[in-house]
Amino acid sequence: MDEPITRRQALVVGGQLLVGAAIACRPFGVPNASPQIPRFRYPFRRPPVLRPVRTDETTDYYEITQRVGRADILAGKHATIWGFDGIAPGPTIRARRGRRVVLRHTNRLPVPTVVHLHGGATPPDSDGFPTDAIAPGEARTYVYPNEQPAATLWYHDHSMHRTGRNIYMGLAGLYLLHDEEEDALHLPGGDYDVPLLIQERSLHADGRLRYDSDRQLGALGDVVLVNGVPWPRMPVCARKYRFRIVNGANATVLRLALSSGRPLVQIATDTGLLPEPIEHESIAVAMSERVEVVIDFAQYPVGSRVLLRNLMADGPRDDIMCFDVVCAERDPALLPRRLSTVDRIPVAAAATTREFVFAAGGGESFRPESHWTINGLDFDANRAIAAPRLGNVEVWRFVNRRRFGIIGMVHPVHVHLVRFQIVDRNGRAPGAHEMGWKDTVAVPPGEDARIIARFEGYRGRYLIHCHNLEHEDHDMMARYDVA
Ligand code: C2O
Ligand code: CU
Ligand code: CU
Repeated sequence: MDEPITRRQALVVGGQLLVGAAIACRPFGVPNASPQIPRFRYPFRRPPVLRPVRTDETTDYYEITQRVGRADILAGKHATIWGFDGIAPGPTIRARRGRRVVLRHTNRLPVPTVVHLHGGATPPDSDGFPTDAIAPGEARTYVYPNEQPAATLWYHDHSMHRTGRNIYMGLAGLYLLHDEEEDALHLPGGDYDVPLLIQERSLHADGRLRYDSDRQLGALGDVVLVNGVPWPRMPVCARKYRFRIVNGANATVLRLALSSGRPLVQIATDTGLLPEPIEHESIAVAMSERVEVVIDFAQYPVGSRVLLRNLMADGPRDDIMCFDVVCAERDPALLPRRLSTVDRIPVAAAATTREFVFAAGGGESFRPESHWTINGLDFDANRAIAAPRLGNVEVWRFVNRRRFGIIGMVHPVHVHLVRFQIVDRNGRAPGAHEMGWKDTVAVPPGEDARIIARFEGYRGRYLIHCHNLEHEDHDMMARYDVA
């Protein structure tokens, strides 16, 4: 407690808090207690692709059992995890636009669970509302129509007040949606289409997971996992790869860059392909956001090593994984200049404009336990704070209000059901990297963002919430209804 702010903490403070040292009785820092784990030693792993138990003309049927499993994050020591099919991340589901997925989850865990397909346009009874829990020993079937463009989605727990712990324990997996528009682009596919689910964890000395919500500020960690492996090493050939990067961390904002200084070529945002590839020196990815990038390892001689780094962190957390270029390979395909069309929805099309204020709760007293609200309200499953009409376009303005005018944390605001576009941030156009379809927008302290969406698909109850999972759990979440 009260250790001086190290450079690492200062950087985290710079990234996530404006005046961090004052937030509580100790500086908002990263737990640094996990046993040392060598970086770039463990082989990169992809989660297995789930096979349907049966298929018919319209539908693929899947089954997943949620159960306790074991992960050896610290070599030779066992960590208990809660996994879809007992693994963390869970199996990857590959879906196609226009083909329905019917997924039956059986809960063999000691706790109730809820499953949400993040980024999916899903009917309300399959969207994973926090009160629609699967009790231990029971099962629930979720239906995903997949009537939306190709995108990198992910599925995860959404339990009332327990999402942070449950995802930390392992309840997350990838859901990759393909379509014909994407097929026609001949992007790197098969083994060259690689998901990277990035998370952070802390470990006890005996290798068990240590979940510390840090007084609801957000669970950080000092071990970086990619697809469940700490700082993995991925052998690659000197050719193009497509990486689907998901920030699956509870509370860590990433700023991705390559150690070579070469740009990352971004091709997609949360819920779809960009109009054209964009080069970036670095890309910020807040919790639950996705970016897809193409890295062409032909730019590097065989034998070189390139690191994927997180510029927001310092110390071991600033590395994510490494790529070792181990083989030459012919790769004649060029990355297309045009990827997709993203027609901007004009603000004039909006029937309604609403404002949502994201702030710390607790009135003027500074509570030792942080507590978070939307429009001053705690989560109430029975109260909708907005009710757009089916088919209407609306503009929603998200305001991140600082406490006492100075203290604040970034809130990645996620809206269920819809894909949206960012209209502006603080009245100015958003960055090129977020000009595509989004389902989450990171709003830094003291700032605001306006989004525009058409509320189409289904009537019913949905959610809007901060995707810092400890903020979501305590209580920065609200129900909205499509009426
Ligand atoms: Cu990724 Cu409501 O969640
Ligand atoms: Cu979601
Ligand atoms: Cu938040």
